[in-house]
Amino acid sequence: MRGMRRDNIVLVGFMGAGKSVCGRLLARRLGRCFVETDDMIVAREGRSIPEIFREVGEERFRQLEAEALEALALKSGEIIATGGGLPCREGRMELVRELGTVVWLDGDVRELHARASRIGDRPMLDGRSLAEIEALYRLRLPYYRRAHIAIDTRGLGADQVAARVLAALREAHAVRA
Ligand code: S3P
Repeated sequence: MRGMRRDNIVLVGFMGAGKSVCGRLLARRLGRCFVETDDMIVAREGRSIPEIFREVGEERFRQLEAEALEALALKSGEIIATGGGLPCREGRMELVRELGTVVWLDGDVRELHARASRIGDRPMLDGRSLAEIEALYRLRLPYYRRAHIAIDTRGLGADQVAARVLAALREAHAVRA
């Protein structure tokens, strides 16, 4: 199946961009299944993301993300929300793009940081200053920019973001509904 693009919709973007909420809304509107890479990893490992980071470290977590990505190759027609760091390694974005139409939810890094900090449970934020988070965001930009579609979420609520994503998908002929 390598090289063949399936018809999933894959949401990528920094922590706090609203990938999960928007993914659920899209799944409901389109009558499709929703799956999240973080949930796949937590279910497989039987422990939370902060526990995985604490007990086996970030590198192992990134390997688990690679495995989740492989498992996703079996899916089609689903809405997939990825962890913020999943596409940000050499070769990852190519694999992500093979799954279907990739939508990047972008926003102002300060807003993303504020939202992600409110929700909590994000080991990548622990002990990092806002300047460090901004640097991490900048490092990740070249990967996110390889998405097929980019949506600026600044100032928008989840419903409005989902509506914009749907409109962009229709325009790209990625969905019929
Ligand atoms: C991470 C983002 C998280 C989760 C893990 C690492 C990252 O997902 O995968 O904590 O490296 O940006 P969200 O983007 O859903 O917060």
